[in-house]
Amino acid sequence: MKVTVVGTGYVGLTTAVSLAYLGHNVIGIDKDEQKIAMLLEEKSPIHETGIEVLLKEVRHNLYFTSNTLEAVGLSDIIIIAVGTPSRPDGSADTQFVENAVREIAEGFLDGHTYIIVMKSTVPIGTNRRVQYVIEATLREKDIKAEFFVASNPEFLREGMALWYSFFPDRIVIGSEHNEVIEKLRLLFKPILEQTFSPPAFIPRPQGYQLPPLIITDPTSSEMIKYAANAFLATKISFVNEIAGLCEKVGADIVEVTRGMGADPRIGAPFLQAGLGWGGSCFPKDTKALQALANEYDYSLPILKAVCEINQRQIYLIIEMLQKHLKVLRGRTIGIFGLAFKPNTDDIRDAPALEIIKELLTRDATIKVHDPIAMVNMRNVLSSNQVEYCEDPYVLANQCDAIIIATEWEAYRHLDYSRVKTNMRNPILIDARNCLDVHEIRRLGMIYNGIGRV
Ligand code: UDX
Repeated sequence: MKVTVVGTGYVGLTTAVSLAYLGHNVIGIDKDEQKIAMLLEEKSPIHETGIEVLLKEVRHNLYFTSNTLEAVGLSDIIIIAVGTPSRPDGSADTQFVENAVREIAEGFLDGHTYIIVMKSTVPIGTNRRVQYVIEATLREKDIKAEFFVASNPEFLREGMALWYSFFPDRIVIGSEHNEVIEKLRLLFKPILEQTFSPPAFIPRPQGYQLPPLIITDPTSSEMIKYAANAFLATKISFVNEIAGLCEKVGADIVEVTRGMGADPRIGAPFLQAGLGWGGSCFPKDTKALQALANEYDYSLPILKAVCEINQRQIYLIIEMLQKHLKVLRGRTIGIFGLAFKPNTDDIRDAPALEIIKELLTRDATIKVHDPIAMVNMRNVLSSNQVEYCEDPYVLANQCDAIIIATEWEAYRHLDYSRVKTNMRNPILIDARNCLDVHEIRRLGMIYNGIGRV
């Protein structure tokens, strides 16, 4: 099938590359000409595991351009994957979506039928709004094309996005038109039936079951995405809340969640206590859902508490530092990890950034390290504000405390006796509970996890 993907961010690029791999003819569009230039040279503008390898492999049926009109023409399916950032009131801003669909409609050809698939996480009702914008554009430009709008939310996790594209838990389609559902079923057929051979470095997970195709109305489909993310954020905040109580009573949250997660009704994933959730989705989507509820004069007290607990995690870390060091002014604090989670260079709404900002207002000196996210962080914090260290042992020099803010695998394997020797005060705050408490304490370090004894 001929597919156009609008937006080459994490979602758009992964979608374009995976659909091309499955044999579709794909064009990726982006307004950013620099990004397009990179992609045409088979370089990825984002850090995503395996994406560059696959970009090279699928080049025979994947093309990139910044010219929307050129790309749309004979496409059967146009997937919208542009950003929907938060407005000041928390609601999702759909101006990029609306601009994109207006431009796309201008490229429609008389007599052709198009399916516009909304993959961006959009406020409830956007499908209908998009329908209206396209109708108005076609009328204005006197174009006689037929089109349908459908919802197909993405559930990709950064760092593993290609895995989730090839082996999703489910595929959701929001449409009330049988012909649209059939076309999209065809688009995803290799995934639904798992008839493709995955790339060697993305093996099919053991025991992977065929993903269910969930067909529903567009409004419910839009809501599925928000509700799923809000629920996952709730799971994490719930565990973080219990972690606080564990500390008070002398229980260990790692043990507690081990026992909780064994109940299939609860499930083990997303029970990891720590610094809280960040990234490009959870903070934005939880805010957008609350803004949506406000519009309808409805309240979401659970979600409100979920967000407050997430914010509280940052202050818990500051309190821990104050407990050990008293005044933070003039202290040197090291931060291991800047990305909002491991295996990505994404620092959007990263909890590490929140902590750094809090520490800077308390006049602490900050040293930071991250295996790949320092480049992005330099656009947010200058080297006058924080010291960027390429080596974690150099970071440790003269530190009064180190906080592990992202559980990169590399931090599990550091020589902590060397880290300790370099530090002024051997205080380690493992804000992701990723180290062995006993091992670190045996080295004579002061270890603090989240909800651990
Ligand atoms: C998330 C959803 O998982 C995905 O389905 C959706 O499409 C986009 O948003 P992503 O933002 O890539 O994906 O990150 P995810 O791996 O879900 O982690 C989100 C945040 O929660 C991270 O900051 C992570 O550190 C934190 N987290 C996750 C925890 O604190 N504890 C956990 O147990 C799991």
